[in-house]
Amino acid sequence: MRPALVLLQSHCLLCVFGGMCVPIVMGSQPPALPWHVSCPARCVCQIKPWFSPDSVYHEAPTVDCNDLLLTNLPSPIPLDTHTLHLQSNLLSVLDTAVLHGLPNLTDLDLSQNRFSHVRTITDRFSLPSLLSLHLEENHLTHLPEASFASLPALQELFLSHNYLHSIAPGAFVGLDSLFRLHINNNRLTTVNPQWFKALPRLEVLMLGGNPVESLPERGFIALKSLRSLVLGGMGLKGLAEKALEGLDSLESLSFYDNLLTKVPTQALRRVPGLKFLDLNKNRIKLIGTGDFQDMVHLKELGLNNMEELVSIDRAALQNLPELTKLEITNNPRLSYIHPQAFLKLSRLESLMLNSNSLSALHQHIMLSLPNLQEVSLHSNPLRCDCLFHWAAKEVSHPRLEKDTEADAQTPRVVRFIQPQATLCSEPPELRARRVREVSSGEMSALCLPMIPASSLPSFVGVREGGKLVLHCRALADPQPELYWVTPSGLKLHPEPMHASKASSTPLPCKSRRTSEEFNLTSEANTPRQQNEDNIPCQLLKHYRVLPEGTLEISKISAREAGMYTCVAENAIGADTRSVNVGVHNREKRRNRGAAANLKKFQLLRADARFEVREIREHYAILSWQSGHNLPSTRLSWQAMFSKAHSPTYTTRILAGTQSFNLTHLQAGTYYRVCMHLGISEGTKHASRRLRESRKPQCVSFRTKDAPEPQPSLQLNPQLTSTAVTLLLLAIILLLAGQGWDSETGEGTGKNHNTSHHDIRGYKALIVNQKAKGSDDPQPKQNDKLLLHRNC
Ligand SMILES: *[C@@H]1O[C@H](CO)[C@@H](O)[C@H](O)[C@H]1NC(C)=O
Ligand SMILES: *[C@@H]1O[C@H](CO)[C@@H](O)[C@H](O)[C@H]1NC(C)=O
Ligand SMILES: *[C@@H]1O[C@H](CO)[C@@H](O)[C@H](O)[C@H]1NC(C)=O
Ligand SMILES: *[C@@H]1O[C@H](CO)[C@@H](O)[C@H](O)[C@H]1NC(C)=O
Repeated sequence: MRPALVLLQSHCLLCVFGGMCVPIVMGSQPPALPWHVSCPARCVCQIKPWFSPDSVYHEAPTVDCNDLLLTNLPSPIPLDTHTLHLQSNLLSVLDTAVLHGLPNLTDLDLSQNRFSHVRTITDRFSLPSLLSLHLEENHLTHLPEASFASLPALQELFLSHNYLHSIAPGAFVGLDSLFRLHINNNRLTTVNPQWFKALPRLEVLMLGGNPVESLPERGFIALKSLRSLVLGGMGLKGLAEKALEGLDSLESLSFYDNLLTKVPTQALRRVPGLKFLDLNKNRIKLIGTGDFQDMVHLKELGLNNMEELVSIDRAALQNLPELTKLEITNNPRLSYIHPQAFLKLSRLESLMLNSNSLSALHQHIMLSLPNLQEVSLHSNPLRCDCLFHWAAKEVSHPRLEKDTEADAQTPRVVRFIQPQATLCSEPPELRARRVREVSSGEMSALCLPMIPASSLPSFVGVREGGKLVLHCRALADPQPELYWVTPSGLKLHPEPMHASKASSTPLPCKSRRTSEEFNLTSEANTPRQQNEDNIPCQLLKHYRVLPEGTLEISKISAREAGMYTCVAENAIGADTRSVNVGVHNREKRRNRGAAANLKKFQLLRADARFEVREIREHYAILSWQSGHNLPSTRLSWQAMFSKAHSPTYTTRILAGTQSFNLTHLQAGTYYRVCMHLGISEGTKHASRRLRESRKPQCVSFRTKDAPEPQPSLQLNPQLTSTAVTLLLLAIILLLAGQGWDSETGEGTGKNHNTSHHDIRGYKALIVNQKAKGSDDPQPKQNDKLLLHRNC
């Protein structure tokens, strides 16, 4: 019977994982045989296959009296009955003397009846051969001391889906052989460590579905043999460090459907033998560095169905040498997996990442998993660009870099699960194409940073004195730099990577980078500087930007309410996203309506001074001073020709910058440049007054004349200038025809097919306002934002 045993065990692990375990044997079962006895009326008597709790096969004389509306035991029950099914009847009492007369009764199923007192079943007579007792879905409310003392051989006890709200400390006394105990889905509010003292051989415990908010420390310490523990659906908000202490044999653990907000790393360290871990359906926002580390026996990990999970950070899974299967699916906000999120997972074979908000899976992840055989990525908004080149048609197997030649010689084929459903959703020209059918030539080589909309809300309310945590993440190649800009214009860079979360010290005030940044802001911010010279140093003490881009502000004050902007920038471009943070005090919520916004906005306007700092022939440096974060700010400019109207170009200004180098200007030409203060997402429905106050601040200047070339031809000066003007006009019209953003909208040129190279230089300067249903303009793939920054 060995094969059956193996089958049963693996099946059991699966169903324990799923939160409910019924020992069903899959595959071909021997058929039931006839059993020639006098059978009780309407019941069925047969010889049926039966597996003991330790998976030994028996041919069991079975009496099946299920679903018969019985209120009494049927009779006559054959003497050699092994299994008696009385499921779904109306029994509330039992003549135990009858059962006592059945010497071989091994399995008794009384589930879905009306028992409200367990003593009516177990009191007077002992059932010395009973191994398995089913009492699910009855009306039990309490288990008194020594409830099952008359069942000395019992190995399996099923008490789930009753109304148990109390269990005496010694309720299970006498169950020395109990192997499996299900008390899930009752009304227990605490777990009493005393219960388990009587169960030295217990291997499977299902406790889920009880409203227990916290587990006691060392609560399971008596369960030295326990292999599988299911704690699903309990409302657990956290786990004490020693909650799992003493579970020396534990292999499978499920926290399915609880309220955990972070991975209970410390508690998990106490169960070193763990092989299967299910954290599905919790409120974990982040899988952080070191959350799963050195769990040397872990084979399978499930992180599915988490509404709030946004990011898997660097080295989140680290040194899990036995991990073969990792499931991170159905997390609607999960948009970021760090390229080095998985370190030293040398055995990982199966990586399930479908149905998230992932735009890409970085090639580093593929390269860091030497044994990967299959990956599922379908049902994600995949961006088929440089981050995804490894997935393209020709490169069907990511090869390792030259440094490990042995590996490079054995190219791996990573199978896509459901390749026909693994589709590009970006860029538009590749939308709905199957990823595996796009050639790498079709995928853009450039990767702008993109901060996924799902990772940051547009408004966050925090209580005064509370902690603000904002997770900003962006994927791009080259890897983008992230920084945050506070409402007061302070630019905060992340701590260096090595200052991991182990050292939970805040940003050091004297750190070179931050002090530079402070210097920069304080120069620009004369009015505030007068108030308190050392504000930033105090601020920095409760501000932190973690290496991955998370901004943390502890003990936030009402003064710190406002617009926080995350900027992700690489050599190709930048993306920004702003969060309006409201700080309300304990008593009443602060008015954060349009009036408050208007006030703040006027403040910003008064504060921002816009000027031309330097003018040359072909460029001009514009600068503005503001002690405030100016999100969604744009510059527009237009050459002022006497007769013709010329198109207006616009560009987005990154939060935290104070100047802009306007390049590719014509020499000797008048320009008008305006700065438009943005209204961010939070104030979409601005009042009319607010919109009126949005008038841009403008400056005009004339670029320097080009140095006079020695004219070889004498021309009428009048004619020359007209010719130049016409030429310029022609160029401008051509450019306008290239689909540039033209704010005044009169780029009338037809679609001439100009040589691309001529306008490349111009195009590189412009960030198109490609409004994609959002107010926040997304830079277009090939466009480049050239910025001059003060630092
Ligand atoms: C109980 O089982 C044993 C062993 O299988 C068997 O020898 C005995 O006859 C059975 N008792 C009755 C009353 O059937
Ligand atoms: C500003 O920066 C300069 C040089 O970068 C430094 O000498 C000066 O002390 C800084 N000032 C403040 C207030 O940090
Ligand atoms: C502004 O841009 C022009 C053209 O790219 C460059 O020559 C100039 O040095 C820049 N100026 C500054 C101050 O960066
Ligand atoms: C424009 O020119 C390019 C090559 O310079 C060519 O490949 C393309 O088909 C042309 N487009 C049109 C609309 O003529």
